[in-house]
Amino acid sequence: MGARRLERVRKQLEALGVDGLFITNPYNRRYLTGFTGSSGYVLVTSDKALLFTDFRYTSQAAEQAKAYEVVLHAINPAESIAEALKAYGVRKLGFEKNHVTYAAHTGYVEQFAGVELVPTQNVVEALRGIKDEEELGYIRKAIEITEVAFEKILEIMKPGISELDVSAELEYLMRKNGAPSSAYATIVASGPRGALPHGLASGKLLEAGEFVTLDFGASYEGYCSDLTRTVFLGTPTEKHKKLYSIVLEANRATLAGLKPGISGKDGDSIARDLIASHGYGPNFGHGLGHAFGLEIHEPVRLSQQSADILAPGMVITVEPGIYVPGFGGVRIEDDIVVTETGIEVLTKSNKELIVL
Ligand code: GLY
Ligand code: MN
Ligand code: MN
Repeated sequence: MGARRLERVRKQLEALGVDGLFITNPYNRRYLTGFTGSSGYVLVTSDKALLFTDFRYTSQAAEQAKAYEVVLHAINPAESIAEALKAYGVRKLGFEKNHVTYAAHTGYVEQFAGVELVPTQNVVEALRGIKDEEELGYIRKAIEITEVAFEKILEIMKPGISELDVSAELEYLMRKNGAPSSAYATIVASGPRGALPHGLASGKLLEAGEFVTLDFGASYEGYCSDLTRTVFLGTPTEKHKKLYSIVLEANRATLAGLKPGISGKDGDSIARDLIASHGYGPNFGHGLGHAFGLEIHEPVRLSQQSADILAPGMVITVEPGIYVPGFGGVRIEDDIVVTETGIEVLTKSNKELIVL
C-alpha cells in the first residue's frame, strides 16, 4: 500500500516543478506511509522517501512505514530535515501551504537556506479523493458499526432522557462494536434545537411531539462514517410529516441522479431545487454533501460553489435538510461511493419516518 501510494505522489513532482515534497498534514502522512503516530514529517524525492519522527515513535514507524526510511529527528525537526535536503540535493521543495503555520514557515525559510520553498495544495488530498478497496472496506465497517448503534438507540430513546444521554449511548454502542472512537462529536438535536444544523447534544430532555436528529459516525482504522437520521417521538402532525417527506424526496432524488461525470454543483441542485419548489429553499442553507475518508470533511463537495466532477471511487455524503427556527429540523444523510456506472449507497438504515 505504502509503496504504491509513494509512486503515485512521486509522479506529481515533475508537474509541480519541484524535486522534493514536504508533507506536514497528519492525514496525508498517514495515507502515504501507513504510520499512525501523532507526530512526523515526510520528505519524498525522486529516489528517497523519508519519515522523520521522534523517540516515542521510531519503532512503530519502522514497523508501519515499510516503504520509508525512518529518521529520528533532532529536537528541532527542521534541523534534521535541512540536513536531508542538503544530502539529497533538493533545491526546490514543495510544501503544503494549507498545513504550515506562519511560525513554521518562518523557521523553514531560515533552516532550509538555499532551498526554494514552493507552495502546493491538495496534492495528496487529490489522491485520497479516490478510495481503494482497502479504504472502502474500512469505511463499510465504520458504517456497519454506526448502523448497528442506530438500531439499538431506537430501543433506548424515549421522552425524559436527555440528548447527552442519547449521545453517550450512541458512542458507547459504537465503541463496544469495535470503533476506537467516534468520527466527530455526536449531534443530537431535538425539538426546536433541530433547527440548529449542527446542534451538539445538550442537557435538553427529549419530549413527545418532537423530531430528534441524530448525526453520528464511527472511526474504524482511521476511516469515518457519517450518518444522519431524524426520528419522531409521539404523534407527528401533518406539518411534521410534510417536512419529512420533502427531505426524503430530496435525498432519494439525489441518490437517483448522481453518477460519474456530474458536477458537485449539479448534484447539489437536484436536492436544492426540489426543496425550493416546496417553498423551503431558505431553510436549506448548507451544502448537500461532502467527501470523507480519513477526515470527516474532505475537499470534494456537492454544493452550489463546487466545480468538482464526480469520479469512480469518490465517497461522498448526501445530506439534505430543512431547518425551521422555533419548530425543528429534518436531515437525512446517506453515504455513497461513486462507481463506474452510477453510485452504490453504502448506508442501509431505514429512512422512512420512524415514529417512537
Ligand atoms: N456530522 C458532520 C456532517 O455531517 O457533515
Ligand atoms: Mn453527519
Ligand atoms: Mn456529513
